[in-house]
Amino acid sequence: MPHRSWAEPYKIKMVEPIRMTTREDREQAIAAAGYNSFLLKSEDVYIDLLTDSGTSAMSDYQWAGLMLGDEAYAGSRSFYHLVDAVRETYGYEELIPTHQGRGAEHILSQILIKQGDVVPGNMYFTTTRFHQEYAGGSFVDVIIDEAHEPDSEHPFKGNIDLVKLQAIVDEYGADRVPYVSFETNVNLAGGQPASMANFREVYEFCSRYGILVMLDATRALENAYFIQQREGGYHDKSIKEILAEICSYSHGATVSSKKDNLVNIGGFLAVRDPELARRARALLVAFEGLHTYGGMSGRDMEALARGIREMVETDDHVAARVGQVLYLGEKLIKAGIPIVRPVGGHGIFLDAAAILSHLPQEHFPAQALTATLYLDAGVRGMERGIVSAGRDPSTGDHHYPRLELVRLAIPRRVYTQAHMDVVAESVVSVYEERERVKGLRFTYEPPELRFFQARFEPLD
Ligand code: F0G
Repeated sequence: MPHRSWAEPYKIKMVEPIRMTTREDREQAIAAAGYNSFLLKSEDVYIDLLTDSGTSAMSDYQWAGLMLGDEAYAGSRSFYHLVDAVRETYGYEELIPTHQGRGAEHILSQILIKQGDVVPGNMYFTTTRFHQEYAGGSFVDVIIDEAHEPDSEHPFKGNIDLVKLQAIVDEYGADRVPYVSFETNVNLAGGQPASMANFREVYEFCSRYGILVMLDATRALENAYFIQQREGGYHDKSIKEILAEICSYSHGATVSSKKDNLVNIGGFLAVRDPELARRARALLVAFEGLHTYGGMSGRDMEALARGIREMVETDDHVAARVGQVLYLGEKLIKAGIPIVRPVGGHGIFLDAAAILSHLPQEHFPAQALTATLYLDAGVRGMERGIVSAGRDPSTGDHHYPRLELVRLAIPRRVYTQAHMDVVAESVVSVYEERERVKGLRFTYEPPELRFFQARFEPLD
């Protein structure tokens, strides 16, 4: 059969103009931002790939839902729509709505973690680990080794290594492990999935020891897509069925609805056990809001309920979403650009250490590459390397992460294939001139979470 193209399963009803900038505009903007993409004004950005979080385009049906939101303080109709959507899609009975993912992480960590506990997980996420530590626990990474290798073509780099997990249980004892924190489509590994076999095995392992499995189901939809494409026995199952099966191997989940769920704000904690839900609700009232709105307005819950149903209504949505990321990734691979492989679900991760191999890690290659990419065509990415990793509090020296990456995260339903072409051409053009890229040094280094506010200048 001749090659047949596919296109997005939607058409555009409303547009948001973006400002085109000149190279001179961008030179001024990046210098004013201290060579930190977090400090750029979005007005100065042409294609914004800083994050896929809260940057999705809602459908006409979701926007219509905003007008129908029930703003009752207690017992909002929109809350019950959300409860039904979560039950039918993720399979959890008890819903605790929060303002976004980290609100759910806060409450989960506070109800389950005691001082001195250990929480194994498949690579850390910044806010998730923060809340585990804030509650008195410590995080241990039990992801398979392949996750740390940009070139490994392992199809399920998000898998948990059961040997590492067993070692943690043997060392600390099961009563000091309140739960396993299992992230779907692991963000910092490059949007890499876990396999259904692994979800099942981890759940069986934990059941033997009475340890809970709590998913970070923020990008579980994208994980379900990779299972459908890559794992034997799942080709003929729908995304909806696969997602429900993933969740069946857990006791609950935290979700940042700003990703898969197609809304700009919101999140939730969902569990099966009513007693756990009761404890979560007690804290919800103190930190977020009453249990039937938590951290969201009625209209936000209405749009979220519709977003959850929409993401699994057909398999076409997720196929186009991940398909667009793959389209960009394959263009870059064809052009010989070093990126994390296989291409992940929510973005492309450029291997800055390989691209700017003339720069030592303490000259911040990923930060420099992010700034150079912005200068070339106005594409904004995010540093995910030594700057993000911060310093070791005991020695004061930098953490030296093995992955020195620039993330180009793709918002959902926002940009077209033509935008992806512009991004690919810009990356290729920067790659061709890579020897001319200079390293950076700090002009201001904040003590905490330095990547957000740090300022730099180019080295001579
Ligand atoms: N878990 C994962 C895997 C995430 O990627 C994020 C956010 C959160 C939890 C926290 O959710 O932002 O709603 O409070 N990730 C964003 C990103 C910030 O750009 O990757 P939140």
